Amino acid sequence: SEELYLEYQGLLLPRETHSAESLKFAQEFALKDDDVLAVTYPKSGTIWMQEILPLVLSGGDLTPVQTVVNWDRVPWLEEKRLAQVVDKLVSPRALVTHFQYSFMPPSFRTSKAKVIYVLRNPKDVLVSSYYFHQMAAFLEDPGTFDEFMEIFLDGRVVFGKWTDHVKSWKNAELGDRILFITYEEMDLPASIRRISDFLRRNLSEDVIHKIAENCSFQSMKANAMSNFSLCPKEYMDSDKSPFLRKGIAGDWKNHFNSEQLARFKSVITKEITKVVAHFPFSA
Ligand code: PPS
Repeated sequence: SEELYLEYQGLLLPRETHSAESLKFAQEFALKDDDVLAVTYPKSGTIWMQEILPLVLSGGDLTPVQTVVNWDRVPWLEEKRLAQVVDKLVSPRALVTHFQYSFMPPSFRTSKAKVIYVLRNPKDVLVSSYYFHQMAAFLEDPGTFDEFMEIFLDGRVVFGKWTDHVKSWKNAELGDRILFITYEEMDLPASIRRISDFLRRNLSEDVIHKIAENCSFQSMKANAMSNFSLCPKEYMDSDKSPFLRKGIAGDWKNHFNSEQLARFKSVITKEITKVVAHFPFSA
């Protein structure tokens, strides 16, 4: 695992995409008031936001999503790639991050940059992550589903424990700077309206529908700029499992047996109910 992962303040991160330099760059990054950050625990809807945000911010101009790959269009704050593309970003900029709140750079606290936190049923996060670990060469082999569940519940995964991530952002008390949305509730076009209202974009019904059409699972799967088909096969092997895999809520039901469900709930539910009163799914 040391070969694949580096450890940063107790957090495991893939070396392929992260380095001491990229983490320093993130810490020193100057966030602007009109920047928008989508924050996610991995496999919770990150690339979906990389599609939605540029379209909402540009008022429905399809050029960015048709001509720029998602990882350059809305880069990860913590990844190596940011330093190479930052000068090409046009304000209002959109970024994504998998960081827990405590890892955010000082400029985040002093800026007014807005945050959209996307939450996904952790059982589906686990399933999505399990397949991703099989196809991504820069992540550890997950072993059996049973084994990977224990690793996940222990937080011995990249970006740490799911519960720590959610708790950190729920407790951050960012007031009206943060919008919490769930993958499960992501109902296009209603969610696009919610996001555009939050970002104070006054978009017409036509534009909202145009954006929604472009952000469906099928449209994204067909978009080479968004489906990771431009990523070399030695990093991600879509024959093993595509990045845009199933795109549904509740696939966990096809993977969990009753013991696994009880085990999962005994850890997650106990830890999370204190901070998250309501989920549109049972954690
Ligand atoms: S990553 O690696 O953290 O950036 O992955 P992330 O993008 O957060 O999560 C990938 C999962 O999101 C699903 N996805 C979508 N679902 C529905 N509609 C749209 N448009 C969409 N875009 C991405 C993707 O299929 C992964 O979930 P699973 O369950 O594996 O299919």
